[in-house]
Amino acid sequence: MIIRQFIENDLKRVHEIETMSFDSSYGVEMILKLFEIGSGFLVGEIDGYVVGYIIFWMKEENEGHIISLAIDQNYRNLGIGTSLLKKAILVFKGVGVDFVSLEVNANHDDSVRFYENFGFCIDRKVPHYYDNDDSAYIMFYKFK
Ligand SMILES: CC(C)(COP(=O)(O)OP(=O)(O)OC[C@H]1O[C@@H](n2cnc3c(N)ncnc32)[C@H](O)[C@@H]1OP(=O)(O)O)[C@@H](O)C(=O)NCCC(=O)NCCS
Repeated sequence: MIIRQFIENDLKRVHEIETMSFDSSYGVEMILKLFEIGSGFLVGEIDGYVVGYIIFWMKEENEGHIISLAIDQNYRNLGIGTSLLKKAILVFKGVGVDFVSLEVNANHDDSVRFYENFGFCIDRKVPHYYDNDDSAYIMFYKFK
């Protein structure tokens, strides 16, 4: 697996992974906009086939934020999500943020456990966060 920068040719495939991974997902226009405004955007590729992606940005001067991370369901539990998240965390470490935040669906135990095992901690629960009324956990990874 290689990790590389997103290019516009990846858009259709990233959108496909996004829709298979989230109940309320971003449309292609939104994904493209996130790229155009300069968010960090990496994809994981195996033999030329995109199997996952991560989008992240600087929310505040001291706060990095993971916007979206998803892996094709046929390629999960192979360490790809961890590798992409590690890269984003390295970028944030390089720019010297104090912490990294994200929102994750509180009903998705596997995803919450994935982030906890990585070193993120639950800060709080936000009821009715998603369009389908599901709650979110706000999670933080602290450098300091
Ligand atoms: C959450 C998500 C990104 C994790 O990606 P992933 O590539 O499956 O994650 P990894 O393979 O790195 O880690 C998953 C598990 O596999 C294990 N694992 C890691 N490398 C492994 C390997 N080489 N072989 C077998 N298992 C491995 C990890 O220990 C981990 O276990 P844990 O969850 O108990 O910590 C993925 O499940 C996903 O896309 N979910 C839907 C979208 C989502 O919820 N995104 C997060 C909110 S933004």
